[in-house]
Amino acid sequence: MKGRFITFEGIDGSGKTTQLRSLEAFLRASGHDVVITCEPGGTPLGRRLRAAFLESDATVSPLAELLLFAADRAQHVEHLIRPSLAEGKIVISDRYADATEAYQGGGRGFDADLIAEVIELATGGLKPDLTLFFDIPVETAFKRMANRHAASRANRMDGETAEFYSSVRRAYLAIADREPERFRVVDGTRGVAEIEEDVRQVVGKLLN
Ligand code: ADP
Ligand code: TYD
Repeated sequence: MKGRFITFEGIDGSGKTTQLRSLEAFLRASGHDVVITCEPGGTPLGRRLRAAFLESDATVSPLAELLLFAADRAQHVEHLIRPSLAEGKIVISDRYADATEAYQGGGRGFDADLIAEVIELATGGLKPDLTLFFDIPVETAFKRMANRHAASRANRMDGETAEFYSSVRRAYLAIADREPERFRVVDGTRGVAEIEEDVRQVVGKLLN
């Protein structure tokens, strides 16, 4: 039995995690076997990498950052995602390879061919069946992040400029143009309940 691989993407503060939790509850209540995971940090090694380079103020070069996200992903694919799919489970990941194209490609400016090669190496060609991209303007994301920071720990990307996030968002939208079937743009500016409805409908189509 083959499982299904779904990923959630968006700039920081776009509401991915809120929607992922809601979809998880909905699918479990409908009797689905769901594995919820994230990048970076979906495996024990990934959590150590995450703490070392994302949640610390250590200086990390852009190339080291690119390769650390790739290392996290290689471990994640081999030890969690592929085995879960082989067992027929629905795997939902809060971020995956598109984040590298958007943040390290669009945001940091790495060459598109290099990014594609690094992604291919880390994933062995494993692509999501469906990706939901929660799209919100950068200013809205900044407002939401300001609220969230009162309650949770920041990471090193949170200090980036509006220009950086605009480039990240543009890179995500370019993926939507290139792969409209897999990569769905969801208007994330609406209320939580309205977005939930959309998410359930799109995911429902994939699962039925
Ligand atoms: P992400 O995982 O994409 O960074 P979160 O789900 O953590 O985003 O949401 C960021 C912040 O915005 C949180 O404080 C959350 O409660 C709030 N939020 C999430 N979805 C919405 C929404 N549709 N409208 C307004 N605020 C939202
Ligand atoms: P996280 O705390 O998971 O943020 P969020 O809740 O917004 O998803 O932090 C992940 C950060 O790492 C986020 O800023 C995006 C960034 N990132 C990359 O730059 N490249 C990648 O390949 C991945 C997976 C994440």
